[in-house]
Formats: sequence, C-alpha cells, structure tokens
Amino acid sequence: MSALDHCFNIEHLRALAKRRLPAPMFHYIDGGADDEWSMKRNSNAFNDYQLLPNYLNNIESIDLATQVLGCELAMPLLLAPTGMSRLFHHDKEYAVARAADKLGTLYSLSTMATTSLEDIARETTSPKMFQIYILKDRELTREFVQRCKAAGYKALCLTVDTPLAGNRERDLINGMSMPPKFTLKSLLSFASHPQWALNLWRNPDFQLANVAHRVDAIGKGTVGLVEYVNSQFDRSINWDDAAWLAEQWDGPFVIKGVQSPDDAKKSLDIGASALMISNHGGRQLDCTPAPIDCIAPIREAIGDQLELIVDGGIRRGTDVIKALALGANACSIGRPYLYGLAAGGQAGVEQALILLKTEIERSMALLGCNSVSQLKQSHCIQI
Ligand code: GLV
Repeated sequence: MSALDHCFNIEHLRALAKRRLPAPMFHYIDGGADDEWSMKRNSNAFNDYQLLPNYLNNIESIDLATQVLGCELAMPLLLAPTGMSRLFHHDKEYAVARAADKLGTLYSLSTMATTSLEDIARETTSPKMFQIYILKDRELTREFVQRCKAAGYKALCLTVDTPLAGNRERDLINGMSMPPKFTLKSLLSFASHPQWALNLWRNPDFQLANVAHRVDAIGKGTVGLVEYVNSQFDRSINWDDAAWLAEQWDGPFVIKGVQSPDDAKKSLDIGASALMISNHGGRQLDCTPAPIDCIAPIREAIGDQLELIVDGGIRRGTDVIKALALGANACSIGRPYLYGLAAGGQAGVEQALILLKTEIERSMALLGCNSVSQLKQSHCIQI
C-alpha cells in the first residue's frame, strides 16, 4: 500500500503534503493573508449549515453529471486556477490536467502557471478554462485571448480580487520565493526533503511559462512572482476594462473573486455568463466573508441569469452539497488538489478528486437525492 492509500480524506492528503514539501512550498499552499481569518472562516462557515434529508426516494443510482460553462462534467466539482504547480511537483500542471481528464472534469489554468496554455491543451482532452488578468502589458492580455481561442479553451475567467498581492506573512517567515532561492534556511529545508530537492536539481524549469516571453520586454530579468504581480497588475482597471475583455471573448466569460451582490450585478451588465464566488482562499483581503455565505444574497440579486461556481474552504463532499443546495451550479477547489499534487503527483490529484466525488455521491444518497438538480434550498438549513 502506498502512502496515498492511507489518505482517507483531504486532511490526510494535507498531512502527507506537509511531509513531502520543504516548508516554504507547503506554507505557500497552506497559508492565507494577514491573520488568516478569512481562510479559516471559509471552512468553518460550512458548520453554520446543516443538511436535512428526505428518505425513501429511490437512490439506487446517483447522477453527478453537471452542465456548467457550456461543458458536460462528470461531477459538480472543477479545478480552480492556482499558480506555479512546479513548486509542488515536477509533473506540475500536466499532473493536474491529466487527473481532471481522468475524472471527467474541467481544469483551469492560471496565468501564473509553469506550463504553457498550448502545452496543456495539446496534452490533455478535458474542457479547459484560462484564468486571465488585465495586465499593464495589454498586448499580453490580448495575446492570451487569441492564444486561448487558437488552443480551444472553453472559457475565460477574469480574476478581480488581485489588483496587488495579498500580505502572506507565512511566505515572508519561510523565505518562499519563485523561483526557489538558496539561503541557509531554504537549503536546510530542501536537504530534509531529498526527493523534492533531487527533482529540483533534475528539472529546474520554474519559468512562469505563459508570461516569460514578455518579461524581457517589460525590462525585468527574473520572473519573481510578487515583483511580477506588483509591477504588472494594473491597479487602474475598472468595469469598462472588464467589458472590453468580455467583448474579445466568444465563449463563457467568468468573473472570479466576486463576493457582493453589487459586483454580481455589474458582472451581469458587462456580459459575464458566470461568477466564481471566491475570496481567493483567504489569500487576498483578509476579513472578507466566506463564499458559502455569499451564495444566497448573490442569487437573490441576479436570479438565474448567471452560473455560480463557489470556491473557498471546501474539504468535504457535504460542503459541495451545501453550496449546491444554496444555489451554486458547481464548486471548485484549489488547496485540496494541490495537497494531492504535493503528496503524490497525478495520483495524488486523482485521490483528492476521488475522495470528494465519493463523499458527494454517498452524502447525496444519504440525503435522499439521486441527481444534482434535485438539491434544493430546503435540504440546507442555516443554524
Ligand atoms: C495566486 O493566485 C496565489 O493566491 O498565490
């Protein structure tokens, strides 16, 4: 039995990831902004809701198939964009996208990925979403749109909660940097994780593959993440710029990071077709509400006019079920699959998805629901 076989829930994958990764990399995944209040609240808020079952409802077969962003998915759970997978495993974004293929769900590739959007499209078949920023380098933003069209990406997702980098104190404490820097502390941490260090030495390709070709053009020698974010993210952007981007794109256009009903209405006005209700895993502005608490007010404001994808704090299948019952069309996860990636590459990401899928299936059966469309608000009661 491999160590992965002893992981029976996401928390077990997190514990294995912690063993396998040097401290700077583990805490980069695991940490949030400031006091990490939002990060903790994201998970804890699910405890404010309880599930109310209805029995004797023929649950012989449970149908998890979900239509979202114009794609038919095998389950109501997709993979949110996360940056720099190479830090966590040498198979990087390929491992995650291949796991999505296997489980029949959608993979979102981040602008800050360490694999190019074309390589991911070439190597994998499941539907893809590209996460985009409106950069000072507008030419690069335009270029992304054209490249995504050419590579057959299904959806484009504009992140709006990152006009500048959040304050991640764990990264400062642990000396996290991208690419990894060699200091006495980091060398000690790498030495105590020889497998990770060996792979660092064998495959030192830590480039931000989608932006690297423009870095010289903007006059920077190395692509440090925080430097890149703070130098290239355009703090002057507004809803007109979002409308401009939406016009360039032909397919589903998603705004990621929305928490307020007002921003949901503005997203609708500029031509978005879906929202990712998210506070960036509590990694940007601390003290923002948990996404699970934002679903009902946003649904009330926009009705059925936008699809809602919810991420933040999901660690159990019951968390997904609560979000769907409250009005989400689907959920997405970030940290849970990154723990899996760090714990065991593609097999670890698959394990994260299988665990959550199995939990969703079993809990729906116990709730008396045999398809996602049967989940109703009456199944989920706020305590
Ligand atoms: C990137 O989006 C991050 O949260 O680190």
